[in-house]
Amino acid sequence: MEEKWPTDFPGANWLGDEEDRAVLDVLHNGSLFRYYGPGEPTYVQALEAAAREFYGVKCAQAVNSGTGALIIALRALGLGPGCEVIIPAFMWVATVGAVVQVNAIPVICEVDDSFSMDARDLEKKVTPRTKLIIAVHMAGAPCDMEAVMAVADGHGIPVLEDCAQANGGRFRGKKLGAFGTVGIFSFQLNKNATAGEGGLLVTDDEALHDRINAAHDLGIHWIDGVPKALPGAMLWGGGRRMSELCGAVASVQLKKLPSIVEHMRASKARIKAMLAGTPGLGFRRLNDPEGDTGAFLILTLEDEARAVAAAERMRDGGLDGAIRVADYHLHIYFNVAALVNKVPLSPAGNPWSLPENAESAYDYSKGACPASDALFARSILVSIPSRLTEAQERRMADIIRSAVAP
Ligand SMILES: Cc1ncc(COP(=O)(O)O)c(C=O)c1O
Repeated sequence: MEEKWPTDFPGANWLGDEEDRAVLDVLHNGSLFRYYGPGEPTYVQALEAAAREFYGVKCAQAVNSGTGALIIALRALGLGPGCEVIIPAFMWVATVGAVVQVNAIPVICEVDDSFSMDARDLEKKVTPRTKLIIAVHMAGAPCDMEAVMAVADGHGIPVLEDCAQANGGRFRGKKLGAFGTVGIFSFQLNKNATAGEGGLLVTDDEALHDRINAAHDLGIHWIDGVPKALPGAMLWGGGRRMSELCGAVASVQLKKLPSIVEHMRASKARIKAMLAGTPGLGFRRLNDPEGDTGAFLILTLEDEARAVAAAERMRDGGLDGAIRVADYHLHIYFNVAALVNKVPLSPAGNPWSLPENAESAYDYSKGACPASDALFARSILVSIPSRLTEAQERRMADIIRSAVAP
């Protein structure tokens, strides 16, 4: 009998007794809240300590989602009206939504054949109003952080790394999240390490961390049980604390993350090796194959018609999640209807209508990034489940090979 195909949820395939024990420990202690309680709450704090060590950064702040982490980062960085934020054409609706939610204006940048920010286009998109660059390590693999940082540093613009889809990834030996001013992660179900929900921010900038800490909770800090504003860190609180239950699961998953990533990366390498030389089939260029988390395989075909047909055949063959990148709903700028239609945050029309944003009038419909559009049209994304057997890897390769055959 054929083995059951593992789910696409990388971290969830690795949930086990350790997570059970941690969750029960929280429940038995009655300490569900991270800052105080009947027992000693320790898990969220321990997650932050482990994160500092794992990512090689000075500060880490756990929050309740990756979207929350993005919004908090932008608020802590002081983004607002009159600011432009450059993001890649391949991202997630939350990345662009965070920009809009602080009343700033998103600017969409082309991706190159690595499906991440094209540094040449990034340079062209910088204006005097550019106040942040968000590098998104999409679909498991790293951006070229050397090229992105060179443009950012050349203009003195901070960089936020959105690592939600590439937790545990690296670029040239350094962990993703540790290159920019701030890095964000997600522990949502479909991520390399999961707690169902949850997020994390990392930074080496201690003053920024104070602002992040204030923004994620009450707008100020609790110091020795008394609410106090640290210098330069009085904000409005976002109510985005992580619960101890979430911290319990996330801290176990962070320990498992290297094994999860190693498993996916090895499976992906074997599948690619089996597919090598298939006529008409190419692969996404990897900026650093060693730093890829292996969570996704992106295939490139010769043209759009072939990609449409092959994606359908892959699904018919059993790869239910195979999708042409152009159809990958809220991951592609022109599929985000709220962006294309410039949906405002309030009836006042902000951020689009604000006088501070008058010079930042951009079109977000298909065609705004023609090179990316052409690439998305002829490529297919397939996820690599985190517990494939070698027989299943061979089956995946067979399905893909026959789907792209003429
Ligand atoms: C690139 C990217 N950024 C941010 C997020 C938001 O994370 P969350 O779902 O935890 O809010 C996601 C989640 O899918 C994502 O893929």
